[in-house]
Amino acid sequence: METFLTISLLLIPIGLITLRQQHEEIKTTTMVERVQRAGYECETYDTFTDDGYGLRLFRLRNSTSFNVPEPTTPPRPVVFLMHGIASSSESWVLESLSNPLAYELLKQGFDVWLGNNRGSTYGKSHRNLSASQSQFWRFSFHEIGTIDLPHMVDFILGKTQQSSLHYVGYSQGTTVAFVLLSMRPEYNGKFKTLSMLAPVAYLTHCRSILRHLSGFLGIYTPVHSWLGDRALWPPWFLRRLLGLEACGRAGTNPKLCTFLMFKLFGGYSAYLEETLLPEIFQSHPATLSMHQLLHFMQLTYSQKFRQYDFGPDGNLQRYNQSTPPEYNLSNIRPTLPLHLFYSDYDEIVSKTDVEMLAEKLGNHSVSHFIDLPYFAHIDFVWGSNIEDVINRPIVEIMNNAEKLLQTNPRSQRDLESG
Ligand SMILES: *[C@@H]1O[C@H](CO)[C@@H](O)[C@H](O)[C@H]1NC(C)=O
Ligand SMILES: *[C@@H]1O[C@H](CO)[C@@H](O)[C@H](O)[C@H]1NC(C)=O
Ligand SMILES: *[C@@H]1O[C@H](CO)[C@@H](O)[C@H](O)[C@H]1NC(C)=O
Ligand SMILES: *[C@@H]1O[C@H](CO)[C@@H](O)[C@H](O)[C@H]1NC(C)=O
Ligand SMILES: *[C@@H]1O[C@H](CO)[C@@H](O)[C@H](O)[C@H]1NC(C)=O
Repeated sequence: METFLTISLLLIPIGLITLRQQHEEIKTTTMVERVQRAGYECETYDTFTDDGYGLRLFRLRNSTSFNVPEPTTPPRPVVFLMHGIASSSESWVLESLSNPLAYELLKQGFDVWLGNNRGSTYGKSHRNLSASQSQFWRFSFHEIGTIDLPHMVDFILGKTQQSSLHYVGYSQGTTVAFVLLSMRPEYNGKFKTLSMLAPVAYLTHCRSILRHLSGFLGIYTPVHSWLGDRALWPPWFLRRLLGLEACGRAGTNPKLCTFLMFKLFGGYSAYLEETLLPEIFQSHPATLSMHQLLHFMQLTYSQKFRQYDFGPDGNLQRYNQSTPPEYNLSNIRPTLPLHLFYSDYDEIVSKTDVEMLAEKLGNHSVSHFIDLPYFAHIDFVWGSNIEDVINRPIVEIMNNAEKLLQTNPRSQRDLESG
């Protein structure tokens, strides 16, 4: 079965070559509808990055006070949630989730914002390009971290008139924050806390299916630039081939769908409820650039957390050295230590790799090892027990930071001066 899936995944490039990508209209109501059905409201903001990508941001609001302007005194502390790869802001607000972190934070009095990166469900527009052009897809998580993330952070801080915010990233949502802080350390001061769920920097001990593919896709070949410049997932026949289409409908064999889910998204989970499956497959996997996936495979292959490998000549042109530079983790120095949440049953993000990252970050990080059997990659956001293992610790981290920053003006000054 493993081999079958590997082969199915190998068909992806072939499918991409033979089929022109189909681009569905963005379903603008989906996200808002989900939030409304859960009994809340949300504001929608469309913004453009400096290099022209249109990113949609959502801000959750209490439905009873939706039409009243946001009170400015006292300002509610801002929290920004960033989704993972092949996903979008929808992952935080699936209706069948029993207690999503996003709503819990709203109930606790936070001003909750949900981001979307370029190429995902709510990031498919561009000032000058169309998503059917290959040039549109020429980016990896490096661009998301160095351009999209700071753009969204600055936008939110501008709108809320605040100087710093709380951040929660999941999977690639953590990678982009590591990229940002190592490439643009002046952003350290814009984060009050960072809670990193299933943090991805090193992927050396990744056990998922990505590992099988990284043996050849993780090494640069001239095919990469051509293969990478395209969206992954939209071709309908591939979605059908892999059974993704079928799993989006209620009533499809849940065994098959959970199997697919665990194979593709990081291991067997004891905390996934079958009722979530149709909703997950309706909104996932969301589009992404093939370069994002290739870049992650390069991390597995090279055993380093470093920039995109363009091959010896390409690297020389781009970086003035024949190998890609590593992200300088010494630049990650947030005002308060960042928080790493990880488990031993996550097939993508291994305990060993997170501990290596923690060692590099030294006392700039605090580890939260989730010592539960079969707590897998998806469970950090979709597990039935997130209330205890994720939501409560995160609310506590943020509340403690708020208290500390109020009573310790030095920390506050640090924050403001960056
Ligand atoms: C888009 O095109 C306009 C004019 O054609 C140009 O001035 C602008 O720099 C372009 N923007 C991006 C992000 O490429
Ligand atoms: C929403 O606002 C109402 C009235 O101000 C308040 O009673 C309720 O607790 C609020 N709900 C949340 C989730 O903040
Ligand atoms: C490129 O690297 C070489 C040696 O490593 C150095 O002498 C040169 O100044 C660098 N060029 C640029 C543009 O940084
Ligand atoms: C990494 O950053 C640290 C501190 O910001 C700096 O001292 C060091 O020279 C940097 N290392 C490299 C390889 O650029
Ligand atoms: C963090 O570690 C560095 C050395 O690695 C040490 O100089 C510094 O005092 C430590 N800071 C705290 C707050 O423990």
